[in-house]
Amino acid sequence: MNALTFASVTDVPTIVAGASGLRGHLIEAAYLVAAIGFGLSLFWMNSAKSARRGVLAGELAFAIAIIATLAHPGITGRGWVLIIIALAIGTVIGIPLGLKVPMTAMPERIALSHAFGALAVGCVGVAHYFLEYRHMGKFEIAVIGLEILLGGLVFTGSLMAAGKLHEMLPQRPMVFRGQNYVNFALIGVGVVITFYLMFNPSHTWLVPVLAVLAMLIGVALIVPIGGADMPTVIALLNSYAGLSAAALGLVLNNKLLIVAGALDGTAGLILAIIMCRAMNRSFRNVMFGAFGAVDEVTTADGEVQGQVRSASTDEAAEIMKMARSVVIVPGYGMAVAQAQHKVRELADILEAEGVDVRYAIHPVAGRMPGHMNVLLAEANVPYDQLIDMDDINSDFPQVDVVLVLGANDVVNPAARHSKGSPIYGMPILNVDQAQCIMVVKRSMRSGFAGIENELFFNPKTLMVFGDAKKVVGDLALDVSGERDAVGL
Ligand code: TAP
Repeated sequence: MNALTFASVTDVPTIVAGASGLRGHLIEAAYLVAAIGFGLSLFWMNSAKSARRGVLAGELAFAIAIIATLAHPGITGRGWVLIIIALAIGTVIGIPLGLKVPMTAMPERIALSHAFGALAVGCVGVAHYFLEYRHMGKFEIAVIGLEILLGGLVFTGSLMAAGKLHEMLPQRPMVFRGQNYVNFALIGVGVVITFYLMFNPSHTWLVPVLAVLAMLIGVALIVPIGGADMPTVIALLNSYAGLSAAALGLVLNNKLLIVAGALDGTAGLILAIIMCRAMNRSFRNVMFGAFGAVDEVTTADGEVQGQVRSASTDEAAEIMKMARSVVIVPGYGMAVAQAQHKVRELADILEAEGVDVRYAIHPVAGRMPGHMNVLLAEANVPYDQLIDMDDINSDFPQVDVVLVLGANDVVNPAARHSKGSPIYGMPILNVDQAQCIMVVKRSMRSGFAGIENELFFNPKTLMVFGDAKKVVGDLALDVSGERDAVGL
């Protein structure tokens, strides 16, 4: 019968004994409903239209899973006290995190969640070993070994990834000769310890050694990977965390944990592969940064020559008013400026003037998958106006005005032809094929990849310098004529 992870450590054997009778069947049924909910949640999150439903389904499934777990007869007295303390601590930390962390820092926040989830999985594995090793078979010990290894490495690996993304740790990959051999040797030692424990389970002192080794492996695996690959690494760590949760489910004979862990593991892996493709990164380099040459972010990919033309917002507004079609290309700068609501206002005004407005969405614009979709959905931009890169790229030659809003790398033509560039091969939005290109950013500084953008020197490009929110707000006033009306 099912066991759970929320009870106090000393309660685990009681709980493993399981609930029986009607209560047991009800708990099983609730777990089944929760598992279906998790599957539906992932399915609905496939599209922007149904994503909110997906989030709701996931939340409901979690609530059902937690309530069913708490209904387990194995939780008594002290177990309840510990659960309530844990809930209180989680709530006190979780609510401010949810409310205060900006969208731009979401990847590192997610990394922190993985870190602590994995720490919990690792701790339960260690505790379960100490309590149950006398009754455990070889298979169970092997699975616990895997769980502790994955839990420990995801814990420190995710902390390192969060530190690199938040620039608290150096973003540069730190590599040395033979690094991967060292890493493989460390993993090999972990596997050997697990094997040894399978045949000598009473040597319990090896379990903390395994846990510390796993944490060391987490650091060693992330050190050689550059900051540019960190969001993909986080998706990969998410996948490892899912696998460790599934292993925990096997150990505790909790079917829901096995299903949820497997879903998490595969979803994380698929996401990491999709991100690698969209950013044209090698999956092998993301997994083992120290293999072969590490792509380093360069500050100059050959000097781009030419003149830059800039325009004021009222000049840009005049051009926009004459356009029949405008495509807005949002990027990381829109997220930083939180300009999405102003963008919606501008789009509404343009549409009222008879202009066709659409948004071109690059899969890795911003700093996390779906970043632009989430922000624009928050501003109630209709989903059917959000057009994916592959669907809109062939339309650009017919587009009158492209408004590039705080985007840089995802519109950099160097990705097509500049072999030495860190973004070479990354699919981009073909905005340079539009009739007129307006780029809104604060300066000529580079984007995430740290390289110059020849688009800014294109004769069809007008740079409108300033903070995205302010510029778009001014554009809205100029297009609507409100600014003239109040004599600004
Ligand atoms: P970036 O290439 O990072 O460029 C963003 C631009 O926004 C900067 O050049 C910056 O120029 C401008 N900006 C910043 N704050 C602004 C503000 N307040 N107002 C106006 N402009 C502002 O962004 P992108 O085009 O969205 O490309 C995303 C990059 O991140 C890609 O290289 C991608 O590979 C990488 N990446 C993406 C992900 C995911 S999953 N989305 C994950 C990791 C990495 P100024 O400083 O001159 O204003």
